[in-house]
Amino acid sequence: MGDGPSLEIYPLARDEAESARLNAQHKLLVDIVGGPIDKSIRLENIASVADVGTGTGIWLLDAKTHLITYSPNTNPYTLHGFDISAAQFLPSPETHGLTLSVHDILRPFPIAHRERYDLVHVRMLVSALKVEEYEVAVRNLVGVLKPGGYLQWTDLDSSHLSSAPSAADPRASPLITSWLTFLELNNLSTCPTTTIENAYTHSNELLDISSTTYPVAGRPELSERAQNWELQAFAAVMPPVLRVTGQAKSQVEAEERAREAVSGVKEFFAGGGEVLDLRFGVVVGRKRGL
Ligand SMILES: C[S@@+](CC[C@H](N)C(=O)[O-])C[C@H]1O[C@@H](n2cnc3c(N)ncnc32)[C@H](O)[C@@H]1O
Repeated sequence: MGDGPSLEIYPLARDEAESARLNAQHKLLVDIVGGPIDKSIRLENIASVADVGTGTGIWLLDAKTHLITYSPNTNPYTLHGFDISAAQFLPSPETHGLTLSVHDILRPFPIAHRERYDLVHVRMLVSALKVEEYEVAVRNLVGVLKPGGYLQWTDLDSSHLSSAPSAADPRASPLITSWLTFLELNNLSTCPTTTIENAYTHSNELLDISSTTYPVAGRPELSERAQNWELQAFAAVMPPVLRVTGQAKSQVEAEERAREAVSGVKEFFAGGGEVLDLRFGVVVGRKRGL
């Protein structure tokens, strides 16, 4: 890993505050999509699980509880998290039955992991992978799946943001425009669900591909939590976004303008504005061979 994360476009920090945000975000995401593991996945055959781009490892912890609760026959589980950086790994993962290691999704995994996992999970790499990198990532993920194993990838769909009424509101539009410009300038996907589905198909290794989109707008039971999540996520991402898009010349200016943009959205929500129309796509496929 000699060239590490320093050249990456991934804009988020890897500090304690960001780890806390990721852990809180996890709880909301599983409520939005209906659980850590997609309902189409048959749990009884799952004994080994990998989570790539694992962050803190929070999804693996929850997946373990879910498997123990709903499929008690396959204990002990192999639970392995990979990330390009170890900075956010939870402390003492072995006490939770997890192994966490550093690995870049864009590189083939070490031979010891070949065809080792019944379920491989990926989530929220939208700001880390360029559109043209998804096929490489999927190829590497398929390499560690057992024949018959499942690949589940959940990511953030920004493609409806600009057509929602919020995009026309001057309190919310600066933030929306900056985010979409950031994605475009870096060749990041506004609709990873489609990009992932295409990469699954092009791998020629995945069958039974399904893609489900979960909006947050129009779900009153989630609305307040989703609004708070959006404010926190954009507060975290906006300073680097404003630097990269050339809208702020210094860190101080970026932080100031980010505060203004996020305050604008907060006012929009306080005035009765609907949660910004971000959606989550869950794409599942099954490796050929069983
Ligand atoms: C937004 S966080 C999501 C973390 C976790 N998947 C979750 O949903 O809680 C994205 C994670 O992807 C990791 N990442 C970025 N680029 C990566 C790469 N090329 N290979 C592996 N992990 C990567 C980051 O270090 C970060 O931990």
